[in-house]
Amino acid sequence: MDVLEAILTRRSVRAFAPDPVPDELLRRVLEVGRASASGGNVQPWGFVAVRAPERLAGLRSLAPGIIGRPTAAIAICLDAARARALGGAGGERSAWLDIGVAVENILLAAHGLGLGACPIGSFHRQGVARFLGLPEGVEPVLLVALGYPRGKPAAAGRRPSGEVCFLERWGVPYG
Ligand SMILES: Cc1cc2nc3c(=O)[nH]c(=O)nc-3n(C[C@H](O)[C@H](O)[C@H](O)COP(=O)(O)O)c2cc1C
Repeated sequence: MDVLEAILTRRSVRAFAPDPVPDELLRRVLEVGRASASGGNVQPWGFVAVRAPERLAGLRSLAPGIIGRPTAAIAICLDAARARALGGAGGERSAWLDIGVAVENILLAAHGLGLGACPIGSFHRQGVARFLGLPEGVEPVLLVALGYPRGKPAAAGRRPSGEVCFLERWGVPYG
């Protein structure tokens, strides 16, 4: 699957087969997160994989946004302390963008490896931080639910091109 195909065929997956995500695939997805671009190469992140069934159950109890029963999850965490220390003025703002870059890469890597993934923003921040043992200055920004997909979700649809893609000036549709 090439990059464009991966981007255009990725869907948020919310129904998973019970088969566990092999360790090898989980490692590769984490490697892709680690390889992501970041402002000033600060890499203001940490990725916590959760795969033990009892740990996943605990995580699900803190994350109403998780639908279905993923067999693994990754918490994408912002290391704001590192962003402030290394990123200079505006380091923390840039770090939030970096997290978004890493999340999309993780979603695409999962898709490319035949896994289903869903970004999860609806979860109890403090509860998850405690659950994962995050140190002071590190916070969970997004969870990614992972597993082998059961079925193929319908495309969610996107705003029309003329509404979001412009030429030369905002409001002039690219045509
Ligand atoms: C920041 C963010 C938070 C999200 N939170 C949730 C969530 O808590 N639960 C969920 O089922 N989907 C969540 N989603 C998935 C979106 O609903 C989904 O990306 C959107 O509907 C477009 O569908 P698609 O990903 O299949 O293209 C989230 C996506 C993003 C980017």
